[in-house]
Amino acid sequence: MKQVLLAGGCGFIGSHLADRLCRRQDITRLVIVDNLWTGRLENLAAISDPRVEFVQSDVETFASDTKFDEIYHLASPASLPQYMTQPLRTISANVVSALNLLTLLKPGGVIGYTSTSEVYGDPVITPQPETYRGSVDCTGPRSSYDESKRCVEAMLFEAHRVHGTRVKVARLFNVYGPRTRPDDGRAVSNFVTRALQGKPITVYGDGSQTRSWGHIDDIVEALERYFWSEGTDYLARSILAMIMKFRCLKWLSSSRAIFPNPRSYSCRP
Ligand SMILES: NC(=O)c1ccc[n+]([C@@H]2O[C@H](COP(=O)([O-])OP(=O)(O)OC[C@H]3O[C@@H](n4cnc5c(N)ncnc54)[C@H](O)[C@@H]3O)[C@@H](O)[C@H]2O)c1
Repeated sequence: MKQVLLAGGCGFIGSHLADRLCRRQDITRLVIVDNLWTGRLENLAAISDPRVEFVQSDVETFASDTKFDEIYHLASPASLPQYMTQPLRTISANVVSALNLLTLLKPGGVIGYTSTSEVYGDPVITPQPETYRGSVDCTGPRSSYDESKRCVEAMLFEAHRVHGTRVKVARLFNVYGPRTRPDDGRAVSNFVTRALQGKPITVYGDGSQTRSWGHIDDIVEALERYFWSEGTDYLARSILAMIMKFRCLKWLSSSRAIFPNPRSYSCRP
């Protein structure tokens, strides 16, 4: 029987992963650590499982006598307005948290991490094959997120290489669905929020940019199969989130307003 730690479990994706973890019968204790920076306790409202403990804490300073069999690190904002306004906090949430979580992992345990398509930066190849190493600006306005994700990937893969730690890294693209924050700031939540308000939909630039979107149900299904399956360690899987790809302009056939493309919202897959 296993003890599991979920960091960032009150967030959009983390709370869905918590739902999935509660379905497992081989877990005796699930500890969810979250400081409620971008997450909400309401996201866990559907869970009434005596095995689940919620600890409101920064992951960086979370301490426990327990060593965990499985640790999932989702403690980072994914929303651009959130991480751009608090870049140092974002770096700490990813990097310092990962360092702490590695100390809480039982020997032979597995640590899963949700990385991002942002590790490719402003890519010159689209769609990106696994072999593509990216085009990242380490001094750019998105670097706190991009580079901290890259640093944690490096940290985990080196832990695997040097210490044999079991690591699972999933590079998610744009995820949407229930529990997305209305102020997330990315395309789907912007479109839905504006539409619900009866306002014209905002399009940055000329709308020809592309995105890869994955519905949360598909993403947590993929994460479950990957994180909890055997024999697929040491893989970064960008394909997980390649559910749909289409051009914004084709989708938005009517009711749109065109806005300049600010640098911070530059075209990303
Ligand atoms: N949503 C996406 O489209 C997307 C895309 C790529 C990668 N990801 C990654 O998936 C993970 C989850 O994303 P999300 O969309 O659920 O984001 P989210 O902001 O909804 O969830 C993050 C959670 O982590 C918590 N948190 C942040 N820093 C913390 C800290 N230092 N200590 C404790 N708790 C902390 C927040 O309060 C929140 O509950 C993140 O690592 C993100 O980078 C998400």
